[in-house]
Amino acid sequence: MIPDDQVEEVRARSDIVAVIGEHVPLKRAGKDYRALCPFHEEKTPSFYVVPAKGFYKCFGCGESGDLFSFVMKRMGLDFTEAVKYAGRKAGVAVREVKRRPEYQDPNRPLYEANAFAREYYREQLGDEEAGRLARDYLRDRGIDAETAERFGIGFAPDEWRGLRTAAARHGIDDAILLDAGLVTTSERSEEPYDRFRSRIVFPIEGLTGKVIAFGGRLFGQGKGAKYLNSPETPVYHKGEELYGLNRARHEIRKEGAVLLVEGYTDVVSLVAHEVANVVASLGTALTSVQARLLARFASRAFLLYDSDMAGLRATFRAADILLGAGIHPSVVTLPPGEDPDSVARHEGREALLRYVSDAVDVLDRKLQILATRDRLSSIDGIRDAVDRLLPTLRATRDPALRDIYISRVAAETGVRRETLEEEIARAPAASAEGAGMAAAPKPPGRRGGGAHRWRRLRSPGCGGCGSRSWALSASSSRCSSTTAGSSTARARPWARRTLSTRPTAPYSGR
Ligand code: CTP
Ligand code: MN
Repeated sequence: MIPDDQVEEVRARSDIVAVIGEHVPLKRAGKDYRALCPFHEEKTPSFYVVPAKGFYKCFGCGESGDLFSFVMKRMGLDFTEAVKYAGRKAGVAVREVKRRPEYQDPNRPLYEANAFAREYYREQLGDEEAGRLARDYLRDRGIDAETAERFGIGFAPDEWRGLRTAAARHGIDDAILLDAGLVTTSERSEEPYDRFRSRIVFPIEGLTGKVIAFGGRLFGQGKGAKYLNSPETPVYHKGEELYGLNRARHEIRKEGAVLLVEGYTDVVSLVAHEVANVVASLGTALTSVQARLLARFASRAFLLYDSDMAGLRATFRAADILLGAGIHPSVVTLPPGEDPDSVARHEGREALLRYVSDAVDVLDRKLQILATRDRLSSIDGIRDAVDRLLPTLRATRDPALRDIYISRVAAETGVRRETLEEEIARAPAASAEGAGMAAAPKPPGRRGGGAHRWRRLRSPGCGGCGSRSWALSASSSRCSSTTAGSSTARARPWARRTLSTRPTAPYSGR
């Protein structure tokens, strides 16, 4: 047998459209997919795949089921084999175990330790005395008790071994706490001590709803980095998880769109302001695994990162990775110095949603910035601009969107689309981490070579936004997102084209 949580992990990470699509030529029908039924003879397609619900159904012969039942029926496999097959496709390692009544998932002690820790931190937050200042802090930040409860937010007191002692009493020993990353040792102390001290603690849930890790925000007398996160553990791979996804997945599907923010507090604050389709990558640049995960729930993403140079750079990197997963990203420009949390708190929900509906498609955003930087008039400028736009064109998986992008770049630069297409084909995507991974494997030795490398070296480097594609925009103090946005808007009507978070396809707005 395969442990239930692994079955659920495979289901959660599988793309039913991709799996069925390998056996049946699916055609898009709104948000669903349609084909001639593989289970009976028919002339007009009545076989549907509904990715939002994870099932298929044929209205002709009544055959229906989920990912696993499709693979079982179609390939003549039993359930275990079907899960393994789907697991291989989804990159989830599946381990079969002997069916023993006393069988335990080997990671179960880690989940239990995490669940215990969440309770411990919650109790500390609720403690009349110990949690008072932390509660005040959360309240001042607009996180009321109900919201804190909803996210399981807790408080790690300023004690070296509070959690460890409580866990020991509960029968959880050091080895497990160490494995779970809840305690740690140092050169000075061989005796394990709590990792999270004097911090507001955000539990991180995996897609199956279990607590897999924690993020801790410095608070009170504590020292160290503002945020401290659990290390990688057997149950936590930060590049594969998104904060808030388990809670937000239905909302994201319903909207067909996800809001991507940088921080825990942004997620919590937006949800508190009744904006539910929001997730955060966990203190790292977005990865292609995260993007593919999101692609199972949404076809559109709105990037709400800081509007400073580092934020803009992160935005464009994330956007290329999303494009590589077939998601259409738009850039939301917040006022300088603000993040989604501060906007929601100071300006309110409606204002935040207005910024979102003013989002600009990522390619348009790049063109806006290039225009503001006067890179679309001189020959030199245009030549350079094309190089800056190519990685995005290359990354774009969705054929229609890619076509639109190529047309737009051709129109803006005057470079013929045939030439652009040749350029796109010439080099593999090497810029964004995921853009390359999601596409065909890169031929070795081409990365960053040739003319691109040379041009990169020539570009004035910039510490603020990275030395590669957006070096130029960063090297100028004028490259503030807001000014760039509005000044181009007047000259280019399409630049202000607003993008609704509500898709028009079926299964929306319910
Ligand atoms: N982060 C991290 N480690 C750090 C700094 C940041 O993991 N040392 C991650 C956290 O997920 C954090 C996010 O990056 O939520 C954004 O960081 P930042 O903008 O500095 O914090 P905020 O989320 O805005 O937190 P606050 O509003 O409390 O300052
Ligand atoms: Mn903040």
